[in-house]
Amino acid sequence: MGATYDDIGAGYEEGRHPDPRIRQPIMDAIGTSTRVLDVGTGTGNYSPTDRPCVGVDPSALMLAQRDRANRGPSVQSTAEALPFTPSSFDCAVGVLTAHHWHDLQAGLEEMRRTSGRQVLFIREPFGSVDDFWLLEYFPTIMEVEAQRHYPTVADLGRTLDITAVHDVPVPADCVDGFLGCYWNRPEAFLDPAVRQCISIFSFISDADELVGANRLRADLASGRWDAHHGALRSRPEYFVGHRLVMAA
Ligand SMILES: C[S@@+](CC[C@H](N)C(=O)[O-])C[C@H]1O[C@@H](n2cnc3c(N)ncnc32)[C@H](O)[C@@H]1O
Repeated sequence: MGATYDDIGAGYEEGRHPDPRIRQPIMDAIGTSTRVLDVGTGTGNYSPTDRPCVGVDPSALMLAQRDRANRGPSVQSTAEALPFTPSSFDCAVGVLTAHHWHDLQAGLEEMRRTSGRQVLFIREPFGSVDDFWLLEYFPTIMEVEAQRHYPTVADLGRTLDITAVHDVPVPADCVDGFLGCYWNRPEAFLDPAVRQCISIFSFISDADELVGANRLRADLASGRWDAHHGALRSRPEYFVGHRLVMAA
């Protein structure tokens, strides 16, 4: 299927982990639904484990890691073509995946067709360099997000009947490893293994990635980063644009 994560998904099981503070609101949104579909499940970090859950993902590499973690049954397919009959599930959930789909609206239609409720966890695209200090170092992230049509809540609302939206701040010691995870730990972005587990770094050019990492390294060494952003280091949590969207 030519899935991107067959190219960039190696090491996901080492670099990305379910964070309990991110997981809890997702589980609260799934609520009492008993039959759950996890679309774009990846390694299954946010698949419920206390009830029947089927994972769907186009990447064989990601599903192999999901199997190793014993996260339950899975099917290799895409959000846009879910291989299930209508209303097979009580709830379909998609965590940090919708921005990867080739056809957002088709994927959302499929979630609606196969489930009574839908839960999406997204990070809305950055609109300005002021949204997150990382953009000072890797500004082409914003261009990539615009080119690839990273979805907003409003985009989801064109297909889903949204019932609630919650902002989800990222805790200071977040363990997931997604882009917004290290808002208070800038040194993490100097590690190529950390960047390897964040897909946007595979979408910007190698040159932009190298220049940004070198500038960040220099600013950390000189104290410039801390002079501008050091107050973040003592905050308990920070909002980086993550939203939990519920629909029915
Ligand atoms: C950032 S990972 C998130 C995985 C998991 N949900 C998590 O939060 O740990 C994005 C996942 O979306 C999957 N994906 C990419 N295109 C997809 C599509 N068209 N339909 C469903 N999943 C897709 C990728 O293969 C990858 O496993």
